[in-house]
Amino acid sequence: MIITFWIWLLLFLTKLSYSSHEPIDKDSAKNCKYLDETHLENFFKAIDYRKDFFIERLAQAVDIPSVSSQSESQGDLLYMLEWAGDILKNLGFSWQIKIPTLSNNSKYRSSLKYPFLFGHLPIAQKIREQTLNKSKTLLIYGHVDVVAAKYSDGWEQSDPFVLERKNGFLKGRGTTDDKGPVVAWLNALSVLKEELGNDCFPPLNIKIFLETGEEIGSPGLRKILSNEATFFNDIDYLVVTDNSWLTNHKPCLTYGLRGMVYFSLEIKGPFNQDLHSGIYGGPVDEPLQESVYLLASLVDKDGKILIPEIYDDVLPLEEPENASYSSIQFNDKNPGAYYVASKNEVLAKKWRWPSLSIHGVEGSVSQKGDVKTVIPHRILSKFSIRLVPDQDPERVKALVRTYLEELHANWTMGKEDTNTMTLESLHEGIQAWYNPNPQNNPVFIIAEKAVKRVYGLKPDYTREGGTIPAVVYLSQAVPSPTNVILLPIGTADDGAHSQNEKISEQHFMNGTKLMLAYIYELSLTQY
Ligand code: BES
Ligand code: MN
Ligand code: MN
Repeated sequence: MIITFWIWLLLFLTKLSYSSHEPIDKDSAKNCKYLDETHLENFFKAIDYRKDFFIERLAQAVDIPSVSSQSESQGDLLYMLEWAGDILKNLGFSWQIKIPTLSNNSKYRSSLKYPFLFGHLPIAQKIREQTLNKSKTLLIYGHVDVVAAKYSDGWEQSDPFVLERKNGFLKGRGTTDDKGPVVAWLNALSVLKEELGNDCFPPLNIKIFLETGEEIGSPGLRKILSNEATFFNDIDYLVVTDNSWLTNHKPCLTYGLRGMVYFSLEIKGPFNQDLHSGIYGGPVDEPLQESVYLLASLVDKDGKILIPEIYDDVLPLEEPENASYSSIQFNDKNPGAYYVASKNEVLAKKWRWPSLSIHGVEGSVSQKGDVKTVIPHRILSKFSIRLVPDQDPERVKALVRTYLEELHANWTMGKEDTNTMTLESLHEGIQAWYNPNPQNNPVFIIAEKAVKRVYGLKPDYTREGGTIPAVVYLSQAVPSPTNVILLPIGTADDGAHSQNEKISEQHFMNGTKLMLAYIYELSLTQY
């Protein structure tokens, strides 16, 4: 009884808040022409009215621990897509989940599955008639898998998979990478449907493609793109929200990503278990010593990669791009970690030059407080290289192998029983992506209009140092590879992959408005 009352009250209040903004002008609604600013203002108000509901949606998404790197999350990957599919169904989308069959020699055991969601909602009939066969198709991409998170990593909240709303921030794994943005797209679509009504929604053809293996290098992506080529061959615009603003105060549009190759380097001693360093130290080949030698030979103190020929294919930084860096507002001290003095150099090092990072070393005496005097028998090191235009991942892989094999030969030369070396790539290499000449690209110009409507600012044009395999392969799968844009909504200090990942309520809400405004601006191009 009491519960019924509360539900009733909740429904009543929701109704009240939904209807307390101006309805859309009847005349223009009749022919679905939404061409003036007042409509957009109404849409924005409608977004604000639904704030709590939209945050609750994000809470539901965060609650599903869809960690692609953990095999025990397999069910949650699928569930995550079904959860999104439910919302899409209510919006009128038809959708299907597809799972590519991975070949046996794949790094990922074929029993592990990384499903994809394909959703489609054709343009409202009434608008199709008005647009005289010029109707366009927008493809929205996002990933709903996340990287792992544990309280013991140093999170403030006891469970990273329970959304915490605090001091204007939404905290939890995936809030900024990439569940927050995906939910924001769903929210923007929900408002559009609610406000436009069934007759006029959607204002252009909309397709959506969601992935569940992005954080482990997108297994099966290329396969599914070739299997489902027809889904992509009528796409006019591809928009991806999976990166961030460069600063906290200035919106940006992003036209480049670095690619990557990721390696594991195993050095095994000529012995099968750890040895006492007092008994054996001296006349044996030590795997950790060789690992340190090899790793130290990869990169110098200024970040220059020491692998011969690796810079051969790197395109020079030319005008007007070089000049554009000067006009970008960026004096970010977060995380207070740059050793480079000039802004342009920081940006170029992040975006335009390759970098090599060493991620970790397994097998050493690394437990806190452990002072065991052993010679570890097997060391597995992990490192990756971020690639830039026009580096070819396969060529880079070959250069790395040649170099390390030569160094290993040097290390073991003249010794009787020696270490052995195994170098493997942990996933397919991914090349860099960029949109040439973004300033004159219609997709960017339309996005600029949307940014102006929400933030009243002209966005900076940025690249990113990170990697999104889908952007590379999707831009090859759609008819026009240059109609691709990254439209970020969160900020660089949101802590993607880190402890206490967050997105601010303000960015989440304004981001939703940006997405709506972008769809709206795109739909105007059809007339
Ligand atoms: N959203 C990121 C990509 C990203 C990171 C864009 C930083 C811009 C700035 C994505 O989810 C990611 O983490 N990608 C991986 C790719 C890898 C696993 C192939 C990355 O960049 O490390
Ligand atoms: Mn991401
Ligand atoms: Mn990520």
